[in-house]
Amino acid sequence: MLDSQNLKVEPVLEVKDVTVIRSGKVIITDIDLTIDKGEFVGLVGPNGSGKSTLLLAILGILKLKNGSVGIYGSPPNSRSLNGKIGWVSQAASNLPKDIRITVRELVQLGTRNSKNMFFWLNRREKELVDKAIKIVGLEDVENTHIARLSGGQRQRAVIARALASDADFILLDEPLVGIDRDARNSILKLLDQLCHEEGKTILMVSHDLTAIRQTAHRMIYLEERIQFDGKTDDFPDLNTLAGLRGIEPVHKDTKDSDIKEEE
Ligand SMILES: Nc1ncnc2c1ncn2[C@@H]1O[C@H](COP(=O)(O)OP(=O)(O)OP(=O)(O)O)[C@@H](O)[C@H]1O
Ligand SMILES: [Mg+2]
Repeated sequence: MLDSQNLKVEPVLEVKDVTVIRSGKVIITDIDLTIDKGEFVGLVGPNGSGKSTLLLAILGILKLKNGSVGIYGSPPNSRSLNGKIGWVSQAASNLPKDIRITVRELVQLGTRNSKNMFFWLNRREKELVDKAIKIVGLEDVENTHIARLSGGQRQRAVIARALASDADFILLDEPLVGIDRDARNSILKLLDQLCHEEGKTILMVSHDLTAIRQTAHRMIYLEERIQFDGKTDDFPDLNTLAGLRGIEPVHKDTKDSDIKEEE
């Protein structure tokens, strides 16, 4: 990518020829992927197709069998990336019910890293926490224990925790699971705003094709390999996708049962 002065800008994410093996089995392979600043990328694919594996490889949690990952030009575990990456894991909002922690306390955890773990929040960190709570619209319940929140509110709280780190690159794994349509729409709107107004870069995994189509500018369909990577408007319909996967529909109206298309 080039900036306005035609200088080369480092991509946010650069994945080159990545293969990951788990328990002796190739889970993802031949993965090449570049994401630039401000992009909102949706990552879809059936259960077990390797979406979470790809995210964990990007974060440097899983070892690569082959290839490389660069985030802002550095390997995933580099100190220079401290605080730059926000991460909402799959089922992150399934927090144990017996943890007595308020929304504000949960969001504050997002500001903690290896450098400041044992210090009180400084002024800037407090501002980030205030801002994150405001962005996700949880000011009214900031002192409420998370166990008392609705599923949608809890999901917002874990997103706020990722935002409180002031991360520029946010990865979310199935943030829309188990929440109602209104909550889903407001979270999507929020993520869209983060890209457009705050210049964040987002990579979001979801089963919910309709939801991703509404918001992501670009979509990736992963099933061991990247089978599609392009503009959301060019994303193939489910029958074409089934063809990509070598599945012959039995009935004309057969839907891909693994990936959900709502309304
Ligand atoms: N810890 C593990 N050890 C070995 N294999 C694993 C492990 N975790 C996942 N796998 C396997 O890796 C494959 C991909 O799993 P992954 O969780 O990346 O898929 P996914 O696309 O995120 O699925 P889902 O939509 O269900 O979240 C699956 O076949 C799974 O069984
Ligand atoms: Mg997963």
